[in-house]
Amino acid sequence: MATPATHIRDLTAEFPVLRREIDGQPITYLDSAATSQTPQVVIGAIVDYYTNHRASVHRGVYPLIVEATDLYEGARRRIAAWLGSTPQETIFTANATASINLVAHSWGRTHLSEGDTVLLTEMEHHSDVVPWQLVCQERGARIEYVPVLDDGALDLDALHRQLEEHRPKAVCVAHISNVLGTINPVAEIARAAHAVGAIVVVDGTQAVPQIPVQLPEIDADFYAWTGHKAYGPTGIGVLHGRRELLERIPPFISGGHMIKQVFAASSTWTELPGKFEAGTAQIAEAIGLGAAVDFIQGIGIEAIRAHELALTAELLERLAEVPGLTVQGPPETERRGALASFTLEGAHPHDIGEILGRRGVCVRTGHHCAQPLMRRFNLGSTTRASFAVHNTPADIDRLIAGLHTVRSTLQL
Ligand SMILES: Cc1ncc(COP(=O)(O)O)c(C=O)c1O
Repeated sequence: MATPATHIRDLTAEFPVLRREIDGQPITYLDSAATSQTPQVVIGAIVDYYTNHRASVHRGVYPLIVEATDLYEGARRRIAAWLGSTPQETIFTANATASINLVAHSWGRTHLSEGDTVLLTEMEHHSDVVPWQLVCQERGARIEYVPVLDDGALDLDALHRQLEEHRPKAVCVAHISNVLGTINPVAEIARAAHAVGAIVVVDGTQAVPQIPVQLPEIDADFYAWTGHKAYGPTGIGVLHGRRELLERIPPFISGGHMIKQVFAASSTWTELPGKFEAGTAQIAEAIGLGAAVDFIQGIGIEAIRAHELALTAELLERLAEVPGLTVQGPPETERRGALASFTLEGAHPHDIGEILGRRGVCVRTGHHCAQPLMRRFNLGSTTRASFAVHNTPADIDRLIAGLHTVRSTLQL
């Protein structure tokens, strides 16, 4: 059996919802790749804003507004510094989907024309497919997909050929696949894409809460992620962009706050990052995300990765013992994020999710918003178990016991 995850103390107590029972069963939360649970410190930071500092930001000079603005901009500074970015290049959005839409619309509409190519991969989440489809349809550009190999890795030889052949204007790639768990070599991909003049957009949604990410090392032009999978609140995402590009492209959403001057027929834009943050900010959400980043840093992302890697190794070993079960994605744990998607012969994922759910085991079932990838592997849907920092080997025990119950219930 793999080494049990002993790298960090048991953090279950930090997550209030995990104290709950459902039908007398403790919650075994294995769905953090969909949305993570919220630690008490994050809830506390949000409550503190609403209880003690509630005011708008950047819109006045009275003490409450100064406090709220300091909390909001302080969160941005800490989030930016954590990933090696700058506050000007760290834009708050609603979620990763909104971040990618910003790039597709603001950059895509001004840089794509008839006959241009955008290169995606077969393992992109719909959030990194559909916005590009819409803008490509509008601009007469087309999309090509980098194939995924049978073991869940990106076909990098094909990618290099496609770069040469299509000379794409943009290359968009997930840092970690939310279905296969594959960790893509995004820095290497960025170098190759830049060499043919493409910009690089990385969907870092699954990576930011799981593995150390340093944006200068990746050198992407845009890097998008979402707060609610990184122990933060819902309703907040982040887009990091290269300053020269952000300064050059037009705003996406427009209205209040993002302007410098408004005339009858036209307007000018405020400095970064405000140019891309129209309307009243997600103040509580940004403050909550700042607290989530403090929480992660307090444990250390390297320690989190080591903990989740050990759990993932154990999960893969234990799943292999379940008759009829097939795991998707790379066989080597080091090449994966902290999740495993699988099928169980004779069992529909919906039934698996239902039977596990009755035992308090929460897993994701479905197409995981990755239908092109599902089609590539001839799958309709899978079951996915994913880890966060609070999981322990006991959670794996409950999942495996639950899968044996699935087999006996369905008489497999
Ligand atoms: C890889 C990946 N990208 C993008 C998203 C979209 O995130 P959000 O719904 O927060 O915009 C998800 C969420 O499942 C994801 O896993």
